[in-house]
Amino acid sequence: MKCNDYSLTYQGKKNKEEILIEPTFSLIELTKIELNKNDNWFNKIIWGDNIDALRNLITAFRNSVTLVYIDPPFATNETFKNRFQNHAYNDLLTGAEYIEFIRERLILLKELLSDNGSIYVHLDNKMIFEIKIIMDEIFGSDNFRNCITRKKCNRKNYTKNQYGNISDYILFYTKTSNYVWNRPSDKWSEEDVLREFPCIEESTGRRFKKVPIHAPGIRNGETGKPWKGLMPPSGKHWQYTPAKLDELDNKGEIYWSPNGNPRRKHYYDEKNALPVQDIWLDFKDITNQNTVMTGYPTEKNAFLIDRIIEASSNENDLVLDCFSGSGTTVARAEHLNRKWISIDIGLLSIKTTIQRLTEGSRSLKDIFEKNEPTLFPINDNPERLKHNCEILYVSNMEKEGILDLQDYLNLKEEIYPLAYAM
Ligand SMILES: C[S@@+](CC[C@H](N)C(=O)[O-])C[C@H]1O[C@@H](n2cnc3c(N)ncnc32)[C@H](O)[C@@H]1O
Repeated sequence: MKCNDYSLTYQGKKNKEEILIEPTFSLIELTKIELNKNDNWFNKIIWGDNIDALRNLITAFRNSVTLVYIDPPFATNETFKNRFQNHAYNDLLTGAEYIEFIRERLILLKELLSDNGSIYVHLDNKMIFEIKIIMDEIFGSDNFRNCITRKKCNRKNYTKNQYGNISDYILFYTKTSNYVWNRPSDKWSEEDVLREFPCIEESTGRRFKKVPIHAPGIRNGETGKPWKGLMPPSGKHWQYTPAKLDELDNKGEIYWSPNGNPRRKHYYDEKNALPVQDIWLDFKDITNQNTVMTGYPTEKNAFLIDRIIEASSNENDLVLDCFSGSGTTVARAEHLNRKWISIDIGLLSIKTTIQRLTEGSRSLKDIFEKNEPTLFPINDNPERLKHNCEILYVSNMEKEGILDLQDYLNLKEEIYPLAYAM
């Protein structure tokens, strides 16, 4: 990793050695859901402060996590409730205290990442710039891959004298330059196909567009020579050698205009996948009445998480989210057959994640109309637990009401016997 010649200075910034210490508290197992006795791996839902949970995990999982996605508090100075007005979490750290809170966790997460691993950090415009510098320090600016802009909502009727804010950001870093990458692609819309590939080849019916076969700059070699008696336009050269151009022409892949200008044919059927770029417009927060959600505040779009998981991990790889909220990352990891670890400090988050993985999410209509929730048949829940899972807590949570969680799990065991009894 190349060392940067810049860093962020603020009060209370600790040495790395003060952060990478042995855990103060331990992880205690509360219950295990064993769905497959032949599999000795258990996915993990951990209740507690992620600083302690991560320090504990480092012993067993150093260099083992292929993908980290985190969506931490954004320094909004607000408290958040779910759709039923239950307290979810506080987001009260700001300034240097916030930066150091995130930095400590990032330093621990780097220890857990495998050499081919990636980390995605979701933030908004409040702290993205500060955390970008912190991530450059920790992961190296040469391991910075993208700052993805996500459209989070539709156009708003903004009353402030500034531009409406409809975006947030995801910083994408890798641990090294050799990382898991399954290039994601978009499909062309019908409208775009018609616009981009307006020509149809008479003999085959294939759609194509015409592109120049010359490029700027004079060349003295083969590509500067005449082809079929034609010189490249002045100041330009052929993109291919005359021999290659002959080959393309013989295959019918050169279009000749009525006045004898050659162009290359680019066929739609050879280019039907569009590599995804760094502005994502299709993963807005959930607002559509037809979708399902948990009702947890700031729940992220499941398909946004699918894209990240599919691009930066393979089946059976380990995915970790230590600000798990409603459990979107791990529910999608379960759906996509990845191993996973979920950590959150909030009891509501733990309950919501368990509910999501057993009963499923609810229809938004039920939530808005305060109806009794529609219970989806367990087998219809795409995020339903299919693999073994254990629920753990950080030992200092005992005083915070572990009994409450135990009661909840007992209740679940009665209500969702299917998910527990297979
Ligand atoms: C923005 S929400 C995450 C939402 C999530 N991405 C989703 O789709 O539901 C942030 C979460 O971080 C959790 N959190 C905040 N501080 C934490 C800490 N120190 N340790 C573990 N979790 C923490 C909060 O309880 C909250 O659930």
